Amino acid sequence: MRIKKAVIPAAGMGTRFLPISRSIPKELIPIIDRPTIHYIVEEAVASGIEDILIIISEEKQSITNYFRGLSEQELKLSERKDMKGLKSLGMITEKSNIYYTKQEEPLGLGDAIRYAKDFVGDEPFAVLLGDDVIYSDKPCIKQLMEVYDRFGTSILGVRKVDKENIIKYGNLKGQLKEDKIYIVDALVEKPVDNEIYSNIAVLGRYIITPGIFEILDNIEPGKDEEIQLTDGLNLLAQKETVYAYEFEGRRYDIGNKMGFLEANIEYALRDEGFSQDFIKYILKIAEKHNKI
Ligand code: G1P
Repeated sequence: MRIKKAVIPAAGMGTRFLPISRSIPKELIPIIDRPTIHYIVEEAVASGIEDILIIISEEKQSITNYFRGLSEQELKLSERKDMKGLKSLGMITEKSNIYYTKQEEPLGLGDAIRYAKDFVGDEPFAVLLGDDVIYSDKPCIKQLMEVYDRFGTSILGVRKVDKENIIKYGNLKGQLKEDKIYIVDALVEKPVDNEIYSNIAVLGRYIITPGIFEILDNIEPGKDEEIQLTDGLNLLAQKETVYAYEFEGRRYDIGNKMGFLEANIEYALRDEGFSQDFIKYILKIAEKHNKI
């Protein structure tokens, strides 16, 4: 079955990006000139997904405003036959149907995913977390979809991370099946000390079979008293085979300040329009501040 639908949870409170996240959703914080959620929708569209559900909270209405504005902008450019402008925007609102639903209470990522049940129906679906931006030649979710095409079951996007960072993520216990592909034995959300299984983290991209909904409807709150998607996937892996795939690409965690800065600097360095001027500036400023 082809993956046609994607869910983008964007209802999280953004506590790691205070105070700006009190008035601007962290998903709207820009990398250069467009918000992170724009890049994420673009990734889904570039992977062939047409129907996208964004899960927002009451305070995040501005995400819907952004895409409405983008759609009007695309229309204007297309009336003016400004193909260059259109191309640079990615034409994402033209190529996709974006729907919204509201998570009523901040009860966690697993709870947010429950709101996608009617949208998804009885099909496997993609999940792209709203604050994980992944820069890669082949869109990250497309990489997972290709693994899904081979195995026809849930696929989790994973990467090896430094030991000290594993406590920030969903953590994998798995068996290497072939290069970059693991069979999932168990998962734990943000493990502490002796709970740590490995240095492999689940990083914001998932293909999930619809069996997850029944599990999430019945699961108890986990870490931080929230309904954790990781706990749901752990139970799913006990019922059916779940794979993990080490995807290619540079990942930015925009939900924290350092990740946001790294993304802006690296995207600027890649920008054909002003990278040369930017490099000159960075070298000059780095020299001035380097006191070593
Ligand atoms: C969420 C997930 C976690 C995953 C992480 C990736 O955590 O719960 O399993 O590893 O995203 O960014 P959050 O960063 O929202 O706390």
